[in-house]
Amino acid sequence: MAIPREKGLDNSLDLLLEGYRYIINRRIRFQSDIFETRLMGGKKVICIGGKEAAEVFYDNEKFRRQGAAPKRIQKTLLGENGVQTLDGVGHKHRKKLFMSLMTPERIDDFIEITSKQWQIAIENWEQKKEVVLFDATREIMCRIACEWAGVPLWAKELQQRTTDLSAMIDAFGAFGPRHWRGRQARNRSEQWIRGVIQQVRQGQLMPHEDTALYAMAWHSNLDGKLMDIQMAAVELLNIIRPIVAIARYVTFSALALYNHPESKDKLQTDSEEYSHMFVQEVRRFYPFGPFLGAKVRSDFNWNGYNFTNGTLVLLDIYGTNYDQDLWELPEKFRPERFRGWQGSPFNFIPQGGGEYDIGHRCAGEWITIEGMKVSLDFLANRIDYQVPKQNLNFSLVRMPPIPKSRFVIRKVKQK
Ligand code: HEM
Repeated sequence: MAIPREKGLDNSLDLLLEGYRYIINRRIRFQSDIFETRLMGGKKVICIGGKEAAEVFYDNEKFRRQGAAPKRIQKTLLGENGVQTLDGVGHKHRKKLFMSLMTPERIDDFIEITSKQWQIAIENWEQKKEVVLFDATREIMCRIACEWAGVPLWAKELQQRTTDLSAMIDAFGAFGPRHWRGRQARNRSEQWIRGVIQQVRQGQLMPHEDTALYAMAWHSNLDGKLMDIQMAAVELLNIIRPIVAIARYVTFSALALYNHPESKDKLQTDSEEYSHMFVQEVRRFYPFGPFLGAKVRSDFNWNGYNFTNGTLVLLDIYGTNYDQDLWELPEKFRPERFRGWQGSPFNFIPQGGGEYDIGHRCAGEWITIEGMKVSLDFLANRIDYQVPKQNLNFSLVRMPPIPKSRFVIRKVKQK
């Protein structure tokens, strides 16, 4: 069967112009969860979306990650040759290292540290006339990330480290200056973390054994040799950087609370369950990861369509969150849709799908959810604040998006 094909020699400009909606717009137009297009200098790319598509995308027999992530993303967001680019036993071994950090005890530590850092921050916010929530939350998250990971962070470096970790995230869909800021930020951050790991290996720093710093510094590869310092730095940044990224979801949570003030009462009365549903809906409704890439490992046929070895395939994350077959009225923000929700590893994939241990699903999904819940509790139940008139719109073309004003709040008071 022929795969529906988008006309044109190179449709990269349309991708830039339509951003998060590029794939879902064509899935709707072709009435098909699969279509072929040409991107990045005319290369053939197959785009897929929806639950069944996620299921096939996460089949390790059919897809590989090696060679899929563009260098420009590795030089900014991800780091070169990290866990995201590995396959097979090499990936399994590296992923075990990440998942070993996500024990129930360490998740509880994360919750406790998050709560403590919020408390410290709001005492400071009470003294200020105005707080830009996105910027201030990034700083909170940077402190949390370093404390939880066991990485020393001096007060005088907080700003630079937060700026750099944020710039790497901000660069993932960027061209021009925003991309170059991301590269510089990565170079500076890798240098910083290499130095910290070296101190551990030389016995000048003694992190607790259950921290990410300890784990990355002393991790052995499958051949029994210590992971090299550069690789360890890349992987430790794969823990610290995405914790800072949680600030984006926290800002979107504040926006959702602002747009749906009735949720505040529900968060007070029905707190535990509603908080979970609210956070899930924030992760579904607001854009973050647009799509994921993998390459066909060897020829196969899916639903009558042929996939040939080496073809780049993009899985539509954003569009799967807005899939009419999966979500009733997907354009509406409705936490209640998650009450008693029977999920599968493939129908709700804001942080990837499939399994954690053998697949590439986000290692930090559980702590993201917990960090968002603690932050939501502060925003909804522990502080009062005013939201002055401002431009809260965000663009679905900028990758990654954030409200224009970055969510300004005034007159913060603890309840
Ligand atoms: C992978 C999203 C937070 C660590 C991923 C993937 C996505 C994602 C889309 C790719 C899945 C795939 O390739 O199939 C997010 C979002 C976050 C977040 C939106 C919210 C801020 C975190 C946190 C951590 C983390 C807090 C760690 C502390 C990782 C790692 C991978 C990953 C290590 C690579 C997994 C692998 O390749 O096996 N994330 N993530 N992420 N994430 Fe997250």
